[in-house]
Amino acid sequence: MFDLLVKGGTLPDGTVADIGITKDRIAAVGQLEAEAGRVIDATGDLVSPPFVDPHFHMDATLSYGLPRVNASGTLLEGISLWGELRDIATVEDMVNRAVSYCDWAVSMGLLAIRTHVDTTPDHLRGVQAMLEVKARVSPYLDLQLVAFPQDGLYRTKTGRQNLIRALDMGVDVVGGIPHFERTMEEGAESLRDLGRIAAERGLMWDVHCDETDDPMSRHVETMAREVTRHGLGGRAAGSHLTSMHSMDNYYVSKLLPLIAESGMTAIPNPLINITLQGRHDSYPKRRGLTRVKEMQAMGIPVGWGQDCVLDPWYSLGTADMLDVAFMGLHVAQMTHPAEMARCFTMVTETNARIMNLPEYGLTPGSLASLVVLDAGNPVEALRLRPDRLAVISRGKLVAEKARNDTRLSAPGRPATVRRRHG
Ligand code: FE2
Repeated sequence: MFDLLVKGGTLPDGTVADIGITKDRIAAVGQLEAEAGRVIDATGDLVSPPFVDPHFHMDATLSYGLPRVNASGTLLEGISLWGELRDIATVEDMVNRAVSYCDWAVSMGLLAIRTHVDTTPDHLRGVQAMLEVKARVSPYLDLQLVAFPQDGLYRTKTGRQNLIRALDMGVDVVGGIPHFERTMEEGAESLRDLGRIAAERGLMWDVHCDETDDPMSRHVETMAREVTRHGLGGRAAGSHLTSMHSMDNYYVSKLLPLIAESGMTAIPNPLINITLQGRHDSYPKRRGLTRVKEMQAMGIPVGWGQDCVLDPWYSLGTADMLDVAFMGLHVAQMTHPAEMARCFTMVTETNARIMNLPEYGLTPGSLASLVVLDAGNPVEALRLRPDRLAVISRGKLVAEKARNDTRLSAPGRPATVRRRHG
């Protein structure tokens, strides 16, 4: 007897199986005949482990237009706009917006998010707010908080001190932004400093690294060195890495083996960087995405991050990791069937690996978290970005949506139309 039984779904690898859930665990996977407290019929639908977002800014989310919109559309105007907003937003404002965003996330089957929290201002209201949000959503959503010195570790008087204060308050991950420090040298020094802090405290490390079109922004090289020095491996991630797009190919041929050797992971954020990067170009305009397929070919784990929804940097977004993967697929030209399938894996399993989430997956003994999608397979899910028919978090059904086909009134045609194929 299971508490919950998900019947007849198609798993991402194409296997058709039932999933039996007892309390918060997956108890069995296969052809199951046992009784259950509740049965969810997933026949013909895709059943996947939940979506995971390894890069987000929840202190800024759902604030679009406050106090004004980003007129130039650049990263730098976004940073200065946020600098105004963070000093007028109350803890309550930030908590309310973030919790609303978490509701969106749950409805989309997104059940784990790593969010960077700006530790620049002395008041640390963002940190206080995000710690409160983390505690509030913890029964159903995994939040990891990154201490993120948005204005630079050394560029403000109290930047370093406030990052340490945030870690002392319980923030989980060490951040960084070397390309925003005053000089290349100070950027490199910030990485040596932050890598040491992460190693000494036994914390993970996730750096906004080289988010610029400047091909000479080579901080990822120093980061990889520090990851290797401290043996941080897969507990360290380089976010964005956009300068690699513009780097000299010969240099990249030296760089990628160093990144691979370190064991660190990479998190490009395609929705944001396709809009922010290349703004200083005329034509041709650069795409603003790091070298995804090339890193994957070297064995470097690469996920897709969302970064922003309705904030000073990005005016759109729906908490749908399939939108993120869809954009990434296009910009990185990952159109081979195996590459498209990999894009789905990137926003599920790979992102879970990047966040070092224990007990993730659809195997017996794992936490019973999953999503049922109105699609036949992962590639179809990317094409349709379909309804999430059911979302289960740790054994509890946390979101449901009725299948919604469009009714047709065309003479001689079927009554309803579905965009599923095959
Ligand atoms: Fe970011």
